[in-house]
Amino acid sequence: MKRIRGFAVAMTALFFVHVALAADTPPRAAIASAHSLATEAGFEVLAQGGNAFDAAVAVAAALSVVEPQSSGIGGGGLFLLRRAGDGKEVMIDARETSPIAVDMKDYVGANGEPDRDHATNGPLSAAIPGEPAGLVWMAKHYGKLPLAKSLAPAIRIARKGFKPDGRFLKELAMRKEVIARYPASAALYLVDGEAPKSGWTFKSPDLARVLERIAESGNDGFYRGELAQVLVDGVRRQGGRWTLDDLAKYEVKERAPLAFDYRGWHIVTASPPSSGGIALAEILNVLGGYDLGKLDRVHRVHLTVEAMRRAYRDRAEYLGDPDFVGMPIARLMSPDYAAGLRASIHPEKATPSELLPPYLAPEQGTHTTHFSIMDKEGNLVAGTQTVNLIFGSGFVVPGTGFVLNNEMDDFALVPGKPNAFGMLGNDRNAPKPGSRPLSSMSPSFVIGEDKVGVIGTPGGSRIITMVLEGILAFIDGESPETFVGNPRYHHQYMPDVISAEKGAFTPDEVRALEAMGHKVSESERRWGFMNAVSWDRKTGAMHAGSDPRGDSGSGVVK
Ligand code: DON
Repeated sequence: MKRIRGFAVAMTALFFVHVALAADTPPRAAIASAHSLATEAGFEVLAQGGNAFDAAVAVAAALSVVEPQSSGIGGGGLFLLRRAGDGKEVMIDARETSPIAVDMKDYVGANGEPDRDHATNGPLSAAIPGEPAGLVWMAKHYGKLPLAKSLAPAIRIARKGFKPDGRFLKELAMRKEVIARYPASAALYLVDGEAPKSGWTFKSPDLARVLERIAESGNDGFYRGELAQVLVDGVRRQGGRWTLDDLAKYEVKERAPLAFDYRGWHIVTASPPSSGGIALAEILNVLGGYDLGKLDRVHRVHLTVEAMRRAYRDRAEYLGDPDFVGMPIARLMSPDYAAGLRASIHPEKATPSELLPPYLAPEQGTHTTHFSIMDKEGNLVAGTQTVNLIFGSGFVVPGTGFVLNNEMDDFALVPGKPNAFGMLGNDRNAPKPGSRPLSSMSPSFVIGEDKVGVIGTPGGSRIITMVLEGILAFIDGESPETFVGNPRYHHQYMPDVISAEKGAFTPDEVRALEAMGHKVSESERRWGFMNAVSWDRKTGAMHAGSDPRGDSGSGVVK
């Protein structure tokens, strides 16, 4: 009974939020993305009469040109939309899929150990791209403009070229060895076999032609015909397993987002194949049972870390592609389940992860990208898109101008062995022909009585905890310009350690957490590239914040 009443209350709250949001509109539009050229592309399309969804296509496509280390036409993404007119909320799942001929033996070396090269470099690491179909779908079903208009800025930048920022050049140098293996990759990204230096102009006329094909013929321009044949031939020549069938059968999935309430705020977020929404719900449901305002920072962090630990354990155990495996989603998101988790948390002592049923994490950077958009009609887009690791697989098929992803590594390729993010998984997240790898991408909306926020970030397994900390700061009254820059901390069950950016904790806080049994490791690097926008319906104030960690980011309200 209690549950049914709870559901009814939640539905009523939802109804009022929808009605209230539909009743008025933001005074201006706001876009935050990882690059000023992408943000400008979005505003260009809005100025031509496009809506937030057309702008999202323009921003996403421009990012694929100006930030190819993070996302692109050879990758995929999850796009969370809210249409103001009817309150429809949907997640466009343009996640990559496993080739039908996938063979897990490819990812085990002769010595029986995981073959990390095959998992992360070159054609065997590349899954079937979803990004082109995602953009086509978004434009066709939600946009107002033809693709030719929303893709025009990206096509223009790809052909004319631009001068990459320092992050692009640094990340390119980090991936040089793999890029140099493949002639078309080297021709596109290297200068005389070397990583280019500042002042270099990057152009990709081949990518401009690929985008034009998509603009002219939609999915057929990429997934069928001449380009499909070129892609399949190129991948197979270098040892990959793609077939024409893989491309022809690729489909975008429209999925219902996950939604739950936290302290009077309605959170709308990514559903599987992302683990992000479920983990956010688990963590916030656990935290909702504490009077956090009455606690000092150390105890707040302790309880948050304990909730993170438990949510990441469940990710490894239960989650995979919803079209292929059953998942106890309702249970994991239920307040009763959270109460059980809460009961297992000692208020003063860390729970060693090894005491939780079983299931490791290196550094993670900014190679994936997130943009947030709000238009004057009140339409919202939170888009996170990726090629997985820096410059994806490093492999460019000759004549195409874009790098293929290495998203196969998001599968549990060798069950029980960690991927590049230290994430573990079991057969639920093993690749099956045509299945989608589990993601951490967590594009989210945070809807309150007066304020609406759109938020997300790259950062591999840390995406979820970054979005969590962003949501908590927004709810506490911080604006996107400031919270995107806050120092962050993270715990992912294994390794059993709180990793923290410089400045996240004072020395006293570290000592107090250690006294509770936590291990705290300060990271030399900073992580994430959060882009968020917000609107205060009461005051009309709008904000767009781009993470100061990325030197090219751009948040604009106009
Ligand atoms: O979908 C995922 O969870 C990963 N492919 C995201 C990769 C990522 O964020 C890399 N950036 N640091």
